[in-house]
Amino acid sequence: MSGGHKRLEKNIGLMAVFIVIVISLGGLVEILPLIFQDQVRLPAEGVKPYPALQAAGRDIYVREGCYNCHSQMIRPFRSETERYGAFSVAGESVYDRPFQWGSKRTGPDLARVGGRYSDEWHVIHLTNPRNVVPESNMPGYPWLLESTVDPELIQRKLSVLQTLGDPYTDEDVSAAGDAVDGKTEMQALVAYLQGLGLARRNR
Ligand code: HEC
Repeated sequence: MSGGHKRLEKNIGLMAVFIVIVISLGGLVEILPLIFQDQVRLPAEGVKPYPALQAAGRDIYVREGCYNCHSQMIRPFRSETERYGAFSVAGESVYDRPFQWGSKRTGPDLARVGGRYSDEWHVIHLTNPRNVVPESNMPGYPWLLESTVDPELIQRKLSVLQTLGDPYTDEDVSAAGDAVDGKTEMQALVAYLQGLGLARRNR
């Protein structure tokens, strides 16, 4: 064994530094190309930033932990595309911070649930899923009918997203508060669900 290597193997501090360097290089090789790939960086055709009410709904989706049982990523397998529709592409999630892909499917994938049911169906289902799907083990979220969205928070949120580069216009941001004023969290969540996956639905 050469002298240098022997020193490295006997010095745990030095070893740790080298381990970090090697792992970082591996990480960079995987991550860096993605940063420059338009296909994963730019929105897919027809994908737009969430309108204010849907953005509010998305926050509720995350807060309530819907992702613990629902994925939002249709994989490119026939069994999935036959059931859920066109497979998901990265450009559909560019405005999702953080993305909701997930891998846990206690319930069905929701990537293209938009337009599959009526708003009324969603309200009944989210209030108590057993009212429309008797064998469902999904919890009910009846309090969403009473709690309302905070307009100021959503306006600030859109303004921050604009700073991060989401193409909201100044008018979008200034109209955001009014767009959600007086809306219940249920209305926001349903608006979010109804918008999911529409851009690529019929591919
Ligand atoms: C404990 C697991 C669980 C959680 C948490 C959960 N769900 Fe579900 N969800 C299910 C199951 C199971 C089904 C299938 C039976 C049914 O339709 O109720 C389902 C079905 C659905 C459907 C119908 C999908 C379709 O294609 O038929 C929607 C929409 C939905 N859930 C939305 C939500 C939202 C929004 C939340 C968070 C507020 C949520 N779920 C939380 C388990 C869950």
